[in-house]
Amino acid sequence: MGEFRPLVFSGVQPTGNLHLGNYLGAIRKFVALQDGNDCIYCVVDMHALTAQLVHEDMPGQIRSIAAAFLAAGIDPVKHIVFNQSAVPQHAELAWIFNCVARIGWMNRMTQFKDKAGKDRENASLGLYAYPSLMAADILVYRATHVPVGDDQKQHLELARDIAMKFNMDFADHIRRTGTGIDITVGEEPVHAYFPMVEPLIEGPAPRVMSLRDGTKKMSKSDASDLSRINLMDDEDAIAKKIRKAKTDPEGLPGDIAGLAGRPEADNLVGIYAALADRTKPEILSEFGGQQFSVFKPALIELAIATLAPVTGEMRRLMADPGHIDAVLRDGSARARERAEKTMKEVRDIIGFLQ
Ligand code: TYM
Repeated sequence: MGEFRPLVFSGVQPTGNLHLGNYLGAIRKFVALQDGNDCIYCVVDMHALTAQLVHEDMPGQIRSIAAAFLAAGIDPVKHIVFNQSAVPQHAELAWIFNCVARIGWMNRMTQFKDKAGKDRENASLGLYAYPSLMAADILVYRATHVPVGDDQKQHLELARDIAMKFNMDFADHIRRTGTGIDITVGEEPVHAYFPMVEPLIEGPAPRVMSLRDGTKKMSKSDASDLSRINLMDDEDAIAKKIRKAKTDPEGLPGDIAGLAGRPEADNLVGIYAALADRTKPEILSEFGGQQFSVFKPALIELAIATLAPVTGEMRRLMADPGHIDAVLRDGSARARERAEKTMKEVRDIIGFLQ
């Protein structure tokens, strides 16, 4: 019985401004995972074509996500920071996964249904196949752990299904090429080439909700800018948005049970806890019984103190695109080397001549 070497992988799309949901649900976790793990963080520029083909400023968008990674504290020397399109092995593996994944599996993807909306016939084929490319992003490095927000959970389950089917269908080939290892999945022994990825979703803010409606996810596509805190918002904008955030008339409860049925209160407490690196029960034991007129100013102060250094550093980095490009080029070269090692083995497993 063996084990895959732990490796963290995650990606962020270069579409629109990053918001607090991306920061708390993903980027802050990327930073924390650096200690003691080998990590690869990717600006998934090919994914950005799936919903909208032509982008006004693709280079600037790619650089701004890379700048956010660096500003948040990711070390691109110890780890790898790169953009997806610079490593064509992602697309190569995605094609193979398109042939592994079943149409029935893709039809269950709720994000496709949401994004395609009513005009499904007019959605791109890329939007439909997107989760297969996402599985390839991770598995082209045989990565084992993937920090993401809660909205990506179903895509990671699909990545596990794809890995499992590939391992099963090619079991004999994997054995013959000596590229696999014996693992257990549940109770089952499996001779695997690809690991079963572990989603890392936990934490106090796995799903940051809109500041205007606690039942809707905070998202870049919400028409109201008041619904989200953008990473590039200045202090006044952050203060205004939190002050105007929807709440209910009651004060804060003393325990988690008291947040049931109060999505806006729950969201603000989760945001506070995630920003402070504390748990929701800890925050409620401090603020239980207080009114929002006390809690909101504390949240404003914490949000500004936490985000301002990141925003400032992002602006500084964005002023030097040459430096960001050099970081991405270096990361891409190192990523390509690892991805090609996997693809050589995958081609061999399948039986492609090379
Ligand atoms: P994307 O670019 O939409 O979002 C980037 C990350 O931010 C998280 N996130 C949130 N977390 C909490 N609350 C929210 N309101 C919120 N909104 C967004 C997302 O869960 C994500 O972790 N498909 C991915 C990108 C991707 C990827 C991958 C991720 C492509 N390949 C491989 C992991 C591994 C996406 O569109 O994320």
